[in-house]
Amino acid sequence: MKDDWKTVNEDKYNNLKRLMDYCTKQIPTDTSTTADTSTNDQEDEIQSGTNQIQSTQSSEEVFFAPHVDATLYPFPLLTQIAKQTNNMVIKADALHYKTDVWVNAAVLVSLVAVYFTSYEIIDIIIGAGSDQVLEFAIHAVEPKKVLMSKTTFAMYEIYSKQVGAEILKTDSHEHNLDEFREKLKENPEIIFLCLPNNPLGECLDWEEVKKFIDEVDEDILIIIDGAYQEYASFKDKNKKIEPKWILNYPNVLYTGTFSKAYGLGGMRIGYGIANQTIISNLYKLRPPFNITTLSLKAGIIALQDEKFVNDSIEKNFIEMERYIQFCNKKGLKYIESWTNFITIFVEDSTKISDDLLKMGIIVRNLAGYGLNGIRITIGNKIQNDKVLNILENMI
Ligand SMILES: Cc1ncc(COP(=O)(O)O)c(C=O)c1O
Repeated sequence: MKDDWKTVNEDKYNNLKRLMDYCTKQIPTDTSTTADTSTNDQEDEIQSGTNQIQSTQSSEEVFFAPHVDATLYPFPLLTQIAKQTNNMVIKADALHYKTDVWVNAAVLVSLVAVYFTSYEIIDIIIGAGSDQVLEFAIHAVEPKKVLMSKTTFAMYEIYSKQVGAEILKTDSHEHNLDEFREKLKENPEIIFLCLPNNPLGECLDWEEVKKFIDEVDEDILIIIDGAYQEYASFKDKNKKIEPKWILNYPNVLYTGTFSKAYGLGGMRIGYGIANQTIISNLYKLRPPFNITTLSLKAGIIALQDEKFVNDSIEKNFIEMERYIQFCNKKGLKYIESWTNFITIFVEDSTKISDDLLKMGIIVRNLAGYGLNGIRITIGNKIQNDKVLNILENMI
């Protein structure tokens, strides 16, 4: 990490810290409900807009046609998000290029801090998706070599190549920490751990990850990508990684996102949590208005409704069970998943993917990774009925 940020950005950073301190004090204390904050005279207009939104939510089908390629969120979104962002558009609040963006950013940063870490708000950075936080980290370090598992999230490689890094990969597709240990001899400067892993779905236990972190030299940045952590920790407490645990380490960055369990992929809100030295280095690369006001509003509301998120995750695993039963019935191998998708091995993944595409179903063909498998995102019940029906006749 370069250490010249202080001289370059100290004022900007201190101002932001002051703003965050102020905003933390504004955080609503009652998080059990998501109160309707629209109190002005446009209430009726807003209400009618809201009703329209709610009426489209009455059918799950209208949200997405069967499209199970990207790891999309298939359930209706939290009504409060639709209502309050709609409210902002009606009032044209979201359109200005103003300090409000900073205030919202600071509130969201503070909320993430309070919600996830109870730590200093300054230990957190918000990105346009966690993608952007990954990009900041890789560009801040400019590593000569990076290490990742053979089959993992493609952006690690893409951003690392932008800075000319050599890509080291383990032999196994899934995360194997002994192979990571072996590769340490080749001196990587960043290690990516995708927990749970996209596109395969497997996840390591925190205890084994912790042991590994303790063994790694502190000069090496370990990035723990927790994009699907909400799913993993819901299913199995041993997989849970509390972002605040990360703060004990000088060389670990945790990234999380509102795109998966919170269903806000289009809003592009992600975050990074690490000790202050790492975060302050990432701030050097952060454009001032990297998140839109609407997105920030949506993130703030989503963060306050834990029950909604947990219900959606529960539905995900209930629906996933149907794919597992299908695999068992057909004698197909699959990877146990801690995410919102499942990887199933088939005889010819390219043929199955092409045939599904002709029927309007998009799955991720893993042939490009050297695997005869398809990754299917768990949809809602209507989508899964359709996909499973088609697969039943195809395999
Ligand atoms: C493992 C993993 N990390 C990070 C991301 C980036 O998510 P976002 O930029 O939407 O926050 C994704 C998205 O697919 C992902 O699968």
